[in-house]
Amino acid sequence: MTVSVQEAIQFLKDKNVVAVPSETVFGLAASIFYPDAIKKIFEIKGRPPKNPLIVHFASVEQALEYVDIAPAFVPNLQKFWPGPLTVVAPLKKEIDPLITANLPTLAVRVPNHPVFLELIRAVGPLAAPSANRSGFPSATRKWHVDFDYNGMVPVVEGMEPDHGLESTILIQKEGYFLIGRLGATPIENLNDFFKIVENTQDFMAPQCPGQMYRHYAPTCKLTTVLSDEIEAIVGFCDVNYPVDKPLYSVGSIHHPAQVAHHLFETLRLLDHDRIKLAYVDTNFPSAGLYLTIHERLSRAIQETYHQNRELYV
Ligand code: TXA
Ligand code: MG
Repeated sequence: MTVSVQEAIQFLKDKNVVAVPSETVFGLAASIFYPDAIKKIFEIKGRPPKNPLIVHFASVEQALEYVDIAPAFVPNLQKFWPGPLTVVAPLKKEIDPLITANLPTLAVRVPNHPVFLELIRAVGPLAAPSANRSGFPSATRKWHVDFDYNGMVPVVEGMEPDHGLESTILIQKEGYFLIGRLGATPIENLNDFFKIVENTQDFMAPQCPGQMYRHYAPTCKLTTVLSDEIEAIVGFCDVNYPVDKPLYSVGSIHHPAQVAHHLFETLRLLDHDRIKLAYVDTNFPSAGLYLTIHERLSRAIQETYHQNRELYV
């Protein structure tokens, strides 16, 4: 169900949840002032209550009312907001504890999407996780939201997400930042502006509660083994594959932004077409946006879950 911006504003004021396009992925938004509406987000998504939400603001100043960002980094934040960067910082204002999962910190971001910003200006800050059902690939097209919720969740009209990957999350510590989640802003772009301490060599090690859960996976089983058993190939339009199966193209290997834009759409098309086993080509450089793409695919490949079962519950 598609609704206009004006209708969405009314829905939000009536303590309802709406799906909103952002520049990264669709969000499932509710006003932070209505605990009943926040509760609905968790219910609709099937999200564990221990997994906190990002709160979206219309400006840096508005975000700073809620969190303590070290003053030295505030001007740098202005360079990235609005945009696909989330910062986790100490909470300094009372907020519904369901949003923070009772943590003393809050994840904040200013999205770069005219519709999202218009809703925030009309209703106030909006809490919004990615709009997918918990565990599945994020929704990057309107039909993904309709598919996940059988058309029961209203989707606000507006430009569909451009990036196709979620925001990068930095966690503020004493004078430095940890990487909470790789995302649409490559770490290389952030290094000059935030003192980022690489927490670990292993980017699969969870820093954000949400990173502990099974994630980004279609129902279709994904494998990195190219065999005759596979029914489809998730790969690049400009790479030749030695097995003759339908190609679900994510775009050109030379255009990581294009690949990111198509990634979740492609994984979801496998389920749409009832493909049961697909090969995924993960032979690309692990740098820049491709580092994020690599991380998302690693989590989506079911074999990985079986090897690390205790992490993905
Ligand atoms: O691009 C995005 O970030 C999208 C759009 C809608 O803004 N949102 C999104 O939200 O991806 P979600 O809920 O799917 O992912 C948020 C991540 C989760 O892994 C969650 O655990 C983490 O942020 N998070 C939220 N609050 C946190 C906190 N206080 N401390 C550590 N991690 C936190
Ligand atoms: Mg998510």
